[in-house]
Amino acid sequence: MNTVPNRVEHQTTDKGYVPIYTTNIVEQPWSSYGADDHAVWAALFERQERLLAGRASQVFVRNQRAMGMSPTRIPKFDDLNRALRGATGWEIIGVEGLLPELDFFEHLANRRFPVTWWIRRRDQLDYLAEPDLFHDLFGHVPLLMEPVFADYMQAYGRGGVKAHALGPDALVNLTRLYWYTVEFGLIREADGLRIYGAGILSSKGESIHCLDSAAPNRIGFDLERIMRTRYRIDSYQKTYFVIDSYEQLMNATYPDFTPIYARLAAQGAVPAGEVLETDAVFNRGTREGWSDEGDV
Ligand SMILES: [Fe+2]
Repeated sequence: MNTVPNRVEHQTTDKGYVPIYTTNIVEQPWSSYGADDHAVWAALFERQERLLAGRASQVFVRNQRAMGMSPTRIPKFDDLNRALRGATGWEIIGVEGLLPELDFFEHLANRRFPVTWWIRRRDQLDYLAEPDLFHDLFGHVPLLMEPVFADYMQAYGRGGVKAHALGPDALVNLTRLYWYTVEFGLIREADGLRIYGAGILSSKGESIHCLDSAAPNRIGFDLERIMRTRYRIDSYQKTYFVIDSYEQLMNATYPDFTPIYARLAAQGAVPAGEVLETDAVFNRGTREGWSDEGDV
């Protein structure tokens, strides 16, 4: 590849020491992808496609096919956008990497999903600390084809702009909602529990762990409960939250969150692995392999 991401600096955040990139929208440098880049895409795509059969939400699988994403080569954003605009009015935009929160929220609020243009190296197939093209495109974009989920993502962006104005505590609450739904959510479909969170869909290990392992808790979706729950960035999740439908997710965002944030401020956070008496428990985790420290 003859272009490198325009990384500005590293910054300490609630997610650790993370790279900060320029906030410009960048044209996808498609012709600069090398054979290696396309081969990494193909390897990851084929591996996840095999693994996710019977595990991923059927809505995800159907829409990934419908938008023409395939392992053959790294898709062109312009091609995907033709399908996406027609389905839900969303579009993907190229970015260098993680964006500052407000920029990210404003893109979502305007139905633009930022996708990192560069892809990981072959020696990083199993794990990468930051989102790359495979995570963003393979994991996040197919569900933007689904009208109800697409509306949820926009509502989340609008909520983010509001929370940003309210202050850091509101942002912490809202970030947990994104984490436990958009990144690590499970859904109950006709044939059983399925994955819709992009953080899982783009991870070989967690695709198996989240459904097959007895270690984690699997608990019914509850907006305020999620907003109180700390999470893991250095290991698989200790708790997954299960929605009944994408409508349930969308409906949960109709109320104004401002009074909810005020209520939650008085309640304190819940550790990532804790089960509450009020939880609808699908699976109470065995806690195998857990370390007590490390919740964020
Ligand atoms: Fe993500």
